Amino acid sequence: EKGGYDHFMLKEIYEQPKAITDTYRGRMLADEGIIRMSGVDDNLQKFLNADRIIIIACGTSWHAGLVGEYLFEDMARIPVEVEYASEFRYRNPIITSKDVVIAISQSGETADTLAAIKLAKSKGAFVFGVCNVVGSSIARETHAGAYTHAGPEIGVASTKAFTTQITVLSLIALKLGEEKGTLSKNVFHTYLQRMQLIPGKVEELLKIDKKVQEIARVYKDATNCLYLGRGFNFPVALEGALKLKEISYIHAEGYPAAEMKHGPIALIDENMPIFVIATNKGHYEKVVSNIQEIKARSGKIIAIVTEGDTEVKKIADHVIEIPETEEALTPLLTTIPLQLLSYHIAVFLEKDVDQPRNLAKAVTVE
Ligand code: M6R
Repeated sequence: EKGGYDHFMLKEIYEQPKAITDTYRGRMLADEGIIRMSGVDDNLQKFLNADRIIIIACGTSWHAGLVGEYLFEDMARIPVEVEYASEFRYRNPIITSKDVVIAISQSGETADTLAAIKLAKSKGAFVFGVCNVVGSSIARETHAGAYTHAGPEIGVASTKAFTTQITVLSLIALKLGEEKGTLSKNVFHTYLQRMQLIPGKVEELLKIDKKVQEIARVYKDATNCLYLGRGFNFPVALEGALKLKEISYIHAEGYPAAEMKHGPIALIDENMPIFVIATNKGHYEKVVSNIQEIKARSGKIIAIVTEGDTEVKKIADHVIEIPETEEALTPLLTTIPLQLLSYHIAVFLEKDVDQPRNLAKAVTVE
C-alpha cells in the first residue's frame, strides 16, 4: 500500500502535486476568476464582518496557521492571531461573537484543538474547521469548514496535510480579499493563475530529490541545525525544523532570519548547518546579509533560492532552487525540499521514518 515507495512519508511527499490539485479542484475556477467554497460562501458576512480571525491548532497545523496569518493580513486585511490550542484553552482568552475562529487539524481528533473549539463556541464565536479526515470530531464540532482533501496521511510526520492546509487558507484569504476589495481584480486573477501552476512546480521540484539526498548525506551527523526564513517563509523554517526533530531526532530550531542576531547567532560555528530560505522577493537583501553574517562565523549554509539566483549562490555552501511564483505562494514550494531533506537524513540514520519514537499520528490526550 506504499505504492512502491519505501515509506509512507515519501509517498505522501510525492503525492503533493495531486493533493494540492484535489484541494482546489471545483473550488477555484482560475479562468473564470472565481473561488467558491460552500463553507465560506454560506457564512460570508461572518468572515467579512469579523473583528479578527483567531487561528487555533497544534504542531504542523499551527505552522500552517502562521502562514494563514500572513495570507489573511496581506490579502484580506483582517487582523489575525495564531494560537497554540493548548495555550488558548487554558488562558481565559477574550473571545466574542465578532470573532471568527479557524481550527486547523489534519486528523480532526487532536484533544487540545477540540477543547479549544468548544471553549470558543461557548463564548459565541463562529468556528470554522480546516480538517483532512472527513467526519472527524473537529469536522463535526465546528459550525462550518473546508476539507483539505489531501487523502489519507499515514506517516506521523505531516507533509501533504501541511501544503493542502496552506492551499485552503490561501483560497479563503483570496476569496475574502476579493470580496472586501483589498485585492484588486487584477491581482486576484493573477493569484488564481499562479496557484494553478503550483502542482506542476511541486512536480518539478520533486525531481531534485537526488540532490537533496546528497545534501542530507553531508549533514546527517549534525547534532544541531538552524532553519531561517522571513515573512511567508518564517513558518516554513519552523516546519522544516519540526520535521527534522520528529523523524531524525536531531535538535533543530526555526527562527525568523532577523532574530538570529538576538541570540542564536551565538551557536554558530563550522559544525552548524543553517538552512536559509532566501526567495527573491521576500526581503531578499536582508536575508542575504544574514547569510553573510553566518558565513563570517564559518556556519554551513544550505540556501533555498529562486531559480536564476546569483547572489546567494556565491556565498552558500549548497543551493536548492525553487521555481518562481508569487511570494505569498512560495511556502507551497519551499516546504518540499525541507521535507525531503528530513526524510533522507532519517533514512541515512536508520530511524523509523513513519513511526518515530514517542509520537502518535493523532494526539487524542492532553
Ligand atoms: O491532526 P492535527 O493536525 O491536529 O495534529 C497536530 C499535530 O499533532 C501534528 O501536526 C504533529 O505536530 C505532526 N506530527 C507534525 O508532523
